Amino acid sequence: MKLTDTTRGLKHTALEAVALEGETLEAHREFWDRSAGVDSLTAIVADSDERSYQSSGQAEAQALRRLLGSDAIVLDIGCGMGRVMEHLAPWCREVHGIDISHRMVEGGRERLAHLPNVHFHRGNGYDLAGFEDGSFDVLYSIVALQHMQRTVAYNYLLESNRVLKQDGVLWFYVPNLLRDDGFAAFHHFSQPWFVSHPYPMNFYTPQEIGRLVVAAGFWLEYLNDEMRVTARKTGSVGISEQAQPLVGLCDAEKRRLAQRNAELEQALDRIRSQPLVRMASAARRRLRRTATSTGRES
Ligand SMILES: C[S@@+](CC[C@H](N)C(=O)[O-])C[C@H]1O[C@@H](n2cnc3c(N)ncnc32)[C@H](O)[C@@H]1O
Repeated sequence: MKLTDTTRGLKHTALEAVALEGETLEAHREFWDRSAGVDSLTAIVADSDERSYQSSGQAEAQALRRLLGSDAIVLDIGCGMGRVMEHLAPWCREVHGIDISHRMVEGGRERLAHLPNVHFHRGNGYDLAGFEDGSFDVLYSIVALQHMQRTVAYNYLLESNRVLKQDGVLWFYVPNLLRDDGFAAFHHFSQPWFVSHPYPMNFYTPQEIGRLVVAAGFWLEYLNDEMRVTARKTGSVGISEQAQPLVGLCDAEKRRLAQRNAELEQALDRIRSQPLVRMASAARRRLRRTATSTGRES
């Protein structure tokens, strides 16, 4: 597409005119503050009104519910105005949300003031510095990690591992560049409009997600091609059998398998060198020779 090409699929709304003006965290914060000022609901979920905002939040909370034990303490990274937190609150002891945008956090505090176990925090857009190690049972991030620089998203994965309790779960999803719908979205952002109105958006492949989750110290328990991720802090890192076909093996996993093969080979050598086993092998070789020569004579 040339810069002079007309744009497609855009509605020319005031929200679309909000542009990311740089790559610093401050520029990202301003982008989301300005977006929330123009149309907070649509900035959070495209084409939404109050009804669809509520029902989509309910559906996301329902998907998360199976991960919650009784008395769960939960954190939402990039929480916006607490679209999902609102519906999780009745099932949790505490629901915390952190967001880079002052306006989103203020909007959330106002909307959910009636829920005493919901807490909003304005973060620095990079880490979870305000939270103690091992303080959460479940962390999740919904349509948020894709809007950050990839290095920042990775730092949130590292930080998630730090603030999760042992056996705690991280749940998130990001768009899959290798799926047709993910690629169509990527193609959309290649339009000339986005040269003058940059929108913070990143796409990932399953291999990249596998790599980042494992490097952040997690056991990748579940991954599907919609890039819905369940990662657990088990104390050992790696990729489950379910996720492996999508992710392939990363270097760490290859090294682990090579090490395991070497150990098995050594164990086999020890067995082969035992006197009884050696005698049995020799007897088997003799039997084979006899059978071959008998076959030749007959
Ligand atoms: C599309 S909204 C989604 C909000 C919420 N997760 C939901 O599903 O309703 C993306 C949110 O991510 C936040 N965000 C973007 N970059 C961030 C960063 N580096 N750290 C924390 N929050 C960030 C934005 O301020 C915004 O509220």
